[in-house]
Amino acid sequence: MNVLLTGGAGYIGSHIVRALQDAGQECVVYDNLCKGNAEAVPECELVVADVADGEALQNAFREHDIEAVIHLAAYIEAGESVEKPDKYFHNNTRIGLTLLDAMRECNVGKIVFSSTAAVYGTPERVPIEETDRLEPINPYGASKLCVEYMLRAYATAYNLGVVSLRYFNVAGAHPDGDIGEAHTPETHLIPLILQVPLGKRENIKIFGQDYGTPDGTCIRDYIHVCDLADAHVLALGATTPGEVKAYNLGNGEGFSVREVIETCRLVTEAPIPAEETPRRPGDPARLVAASQKAITELKWQPNFPELATIVAHAWEWHKNHPNGYET
Ligand code: UFG
Repeated sequence: MNVLLTGGAGYIGSHIVRALQDAGQECVVYDNLCKGNAEAVPECELVVADVADGEALQNAFREHDIEAVIHLAAYIEAGESVEKPDKYFHNNTRIGLTLLDAMRECNVGKIVFSSTAAVYGTPERVPIEETDRLEPINPYGASKLCVEYMLRAYATAYNLGVVSLRYFNVAGAHPDGDIGEAHTPETHLIPLILQVPLGKRENIKIFGQDYGTPDGTCIRDYIHVCDLADAHVLALGATTPGEVKAYNLGNGEGFSVREVIETCRLVTEAPIPAEETPRRPGDPARLVAASQKAITELKWQPNFPELATIVAHAWEWHKNHPNGYET
């Protein structure tokens, strides 16, 4: 199957490209490189263009005989989305519609959508199941949920086959050590913590200590980026025309910010000082996935469920690439 990945030169996209190549699938990366890195996808056809450009998308679909899309291109910072909702609805929601129309125009009938745990907002219960209430508490989650709604309507009306993958907290790096996380600026917890032993920051700030959790800090479910990538390969084979399927992807175990910092201390053998600071806007207290549906229906099996392994792989990457893909 010929697959096009929007945002495929990013952190998650580059690991999916590797998983697709390992599975013998043909893929094309479509990325404007505003956040992505061409160096992360060295052995893949790369189209440098924007998803907002419907004509360029159609050209790419036709030229490469594309049968399926994995749609990753998006802004991803929940905190920032509270300050700049326009950026999120324009770039995440509006370009989703441009993509769907280009797919329709070119008869591309399958899509795997990069959705997020943020569509649940503050969950009624954890672990969260796919049928639980969808009520995002930040514009990032809302911008992604809008795309889920558009996908549902397009599936029904135009026979599109859709799988939405709701990621929990993605971390780690490829065990081969040559691709990993390289965001500028970095906003995610694990890479920020690892900047301390790298000498790039003095301490890690803990955002909020008064959440209703055992140690007062937010709890998240961390998933290895390679396990997440494998789920995309399986999801491509699970699309059915006219149907929408949604799967949570996490490991079903929550770790507090303090526990993640402690794991990083153990893995790096560095002291890693922490500073208590106020809450970051838009953060729910606790997000933990029930991923049984993906395990049962997609036959997904995580290879690296342990937080210590996820951190160890991330540490290996950051130690050897302290400036990401910059040489
Ligand atoms: N945090 C800190 N200090 C930091 C950075 C983060 O305490 O310097 C805390 C956050 O407040 C949060 C937790 O660490 O409680 C995790 O924060 P991240 O920014 O690493 O991740 P988020 O949970 O905000 O969001 C991530 C992805 C989203 C996805 C979400 C799903 O960025 O795209 O996970 O859980 F939707």
